[in-house]
Amino acid sequence: MTDSTPLGRVLLIVGGGIAAYKALELTRLLRKAGVGVRPILTKSGAEFVTALSLAALSEDKVYSDLFSLTDEAEMGHIELSRSADLVVVAPATADLIAKAANGLAGDLASTTLLATDKPVLMAPAMNVRMWLHPATQRNLATLKADGVLFVGPDEGAMACGEFGPGRLAEPPVIFEAIMAALEGPAARSQKGGPLAGKHALVTAGPTFEPIDPVRGITNRSSGRQGYAIAGALARLGARVTLVSGPVSLPTPPGVDRVDVETARDMLAACQAALPADVGVFVAAVADWRIDEVFGVKLKKDKGGPPALTFVENPDILATLSASGPKRPKLVIGFAAETNDVEAHARAKLARKGCDWIIANDVTEPGVMGGDENAVLLISKDKTERWTRAAKDSVAHDLAQRIAESLS
Ligand SMILES: Cc1cc2nc3c(=O)[nH]c(=O)nc-3n(C[C@H](O)[C@H](O)[C@H](O)COP(=O)(O)O)c2cc1C
Repeated sequence: MTDSTPLGRVLLIVGGGIAAYKALELTRLLRKAGVGVRPILTKSGAEFVTALSLAALSEDKVYSDLFSLTDEAEMGHIELSRSADLVVVAPATADLIAKAANGLAGDLASTTLLATDKPVLMAPAMNVRMWLHPATQRNLATLKADGVLFVGPDEGAMACGEFGPGRLAEPPVIFEAIMAALEGPAARSQKGGPLAGKHALVTAGPTFEPIDPVRGITNRSSGRQGYAIAGALARLGARVTLVSGPVSLPTPPGVDRVDVETARDMLAACQAALPADVGVFVAAVADWRIDEVFGVKLKKDKGGPPALTFVENPDILATLSASGPKRPKLVIGFAAETNDVEAHARAKLARKGCDWIIANDVTEPGVMGGDENAVLLISKDKTERWTRAAKDSVAHDLAQRIAESLS
């Protein structure tokens, strides 16, 4: 795979299913469009298509073995996992989906999925009973929550003679999904979308405030809601800067991510990213930090537990809501509340000077660190109560509202 592939480069994992032959057509479509394809063929995949066909169509070497000394000498497996803009699994077998959902890394394909820092798109294909099995559906939900993208499966007659969902999406449909995932912010802006030409600044995740070189104070924020919002804004055409605390989520396609640890770093990264048309401050920022971080690891035996003195962190939402030439036109804060949600959130809106507060009750099961959110959208003159929905769906609706507000 050469670097002269301006439309992007795909690492294509071909799993062991009847539909593996369609990966050949997919490879042909991608190459014809100028997309680089580097195939990884699983051992079972090689029962269905040959490495020779994949190599010929992709015009690249086919990787199969985790422990190949030749391959490792050329390109280590970690480097391989990051050698493309997007990792595509087609067909994604029940087995590959289960391995990826559970973080298994027993062969080259699963190790690649665990080691990559690139977005992953899966095109599942399997027998209808395998697809509908609660184990597969559980794995699917896990991967979706991890930010993995999916295309298909289709419903219809299957090679095994049964009928239902589980058929691999057709190669042109997978091709379209790949092109959408590969599109960078520039391409999106050229193509349009209600937020084309707009810059969105989003914060997500927890902050980490060090105590000593090995310890620190953090919180349970997963970053999922902020990441979903960043992805949804990018899909509507915005250029998105995502300032992220420490989380283990993949960067949504088309989003520029800046990694930070402390609240002060997060504020500095946000200020550096301005100007922006909209600021969505979802991160769970620590209110306090340790006054003086210990330069060496604190020891247990040195006269009892240490006395820690806290000082207040800068208030990112209030700072960036303050009027000035760089204030985003629309500033949105998040409020995680445990009681009197609406009253506390409305007070926060007034105190911080932002335009909207998205409030959620984090005592509800499955909200903090989970996949769903039940939110209130509070503006100066009204409160909207949104029904409980997947964080992706809340993100999509919020992005639409932002687009309406900025138009
Ligand atoms: C004829 C045949 C067809 C198969 N088709 C599929 C399939 O479409 N989807 C699937 O998930 N597994 C299918 N399997 C089972 C997988 O090949 C098996 O789970 C294998 O371990 C997957 O390995 P991989 O995920 O590393 O490619 C099939 C097996 C056979 C023998």
